[in-house]
Amino acid sequence: MKTKILQALRQDSQAYVSGQQLCEQFGVSRTAVWKAIKQLQEAGYEIEAVRNRGYRLLAVPDILSQSEIASQLHTRWLGKNICYFEEVDSTNTAAKRIAEDSGFANTAAKRIAEEGGSADWHGTVVVAEEQTAGKGRRGRFWSSPRGTGLFFSILLKPQIEPGNASMLTLVKGMATVKGIAQVTGLNPQIKWPNDVVLNGKKIVGILTEMSAQVDYVNHIVVGTGINVHQADFPQEIAKTATSLKLELQKAGRNVQLSRAELLGAVLTYFERYYEIYLQTQDLSALQEEYNSMLVNIGKGVRVLDPLGEYEGTALGIDNRGQLLVDRGKEICEVSSGEVSVRGIYGYV
Ligand code: BTN
Repeated sequence: MKTKILQALRQDSQAYVSGQQLCEQFGVSRTAVWKAIKQLQEAGYEIEAVRNRGYRLLAVPDILSQSEIASQLHTRWLGKNICYFEEVDSTNTAAKRIAEDSGFANTAAKRIAEEGGSADWHGTVVVAEEQTAGKGRRGRFWSSPRGTGLFFSILLKPQIEPGNASMLTLVKGMATVKGIAQVTGLNPQIKWPNDVVLNGKKIVGILTEMSAQVDYVNHIVVGTGINVHQADFPQEIAKTATSLKLELQKAGRNVQLSRAELLGAVLTYFERYYEIYLQTQDLSALQEEYNSMLVNIGKGVRVLDPLGEYEGTALGIDNRGQLLVDRGKEICEVSSGEVSVRGIYGYV
């Protein structure tokens, strides 16, 4: 009910929606509407109630709740099961638990089913306000304090070859760039393979984990951490990390950041790009657009290959997501699992 009322009030933020209209639209009593409005106000929504006119949404704080997320979701199938935690170890690990729980019976999953969600976990999105054991790539820790960022994981069961799964990380990078641009008006880019950067600093990290047999995918979890409200960063990453808030301030822009809106936008783009990727199980239809988002393109890069570092010029990705690096005498295909890439003079 809260989600539906929020959606109705959002349709026109200037207009009043009468209590009677809400009752008729949702087939509930006036008391039920009033109770839902009260709960929303208690959660921090500024809703004006005027006798004989109705309700009007004045301001929405950056709330990440089940109903706020659901009211910002415009996908066809992705995120129809939202599993929201105030606190969790890691959204990637929680998503994995849902997939591995044979009866789909852990508490969170059960709750989804009770709230009318599907019992099929493909497309479930796990979101947390805070992660106590957030995971980064290469076994690193991903700092995830309450209220700072958007931490979420998408749980998928695609019918693809396990060897094609790593490209989903690049697909997620593209969706994140588009979602951030839509909601903030900023112009983020991708640092190959899947970091999203703004003004040379990292704003997003993506970690894809898979459970598979030789020729069969059990499940894939694509986890994303977006730096949203951080005003500063620990010394070790201060030179290479930034947040949407800091970048908007630098640009002199005053945008009210809503993590739920951002999540909704990123999921819409992911659903779209994922379906394109599935048709060929590679990036042939997305390669050109990916390359247009690539911060490295045409630039000097240093390839940190364990077999020997080298430098060259990044030409863009091929249809399997490998970075093509021109070394003068030869063009090397760089795979993301084996190596990482830096700019010649720094992180980008
Ligand atoms: C990186 O090292 O760049 C990847 C960071 C990925 C962090 C996200 S936050 C949501 C999801 N849950 C995790 O534990 N990790 C990912």
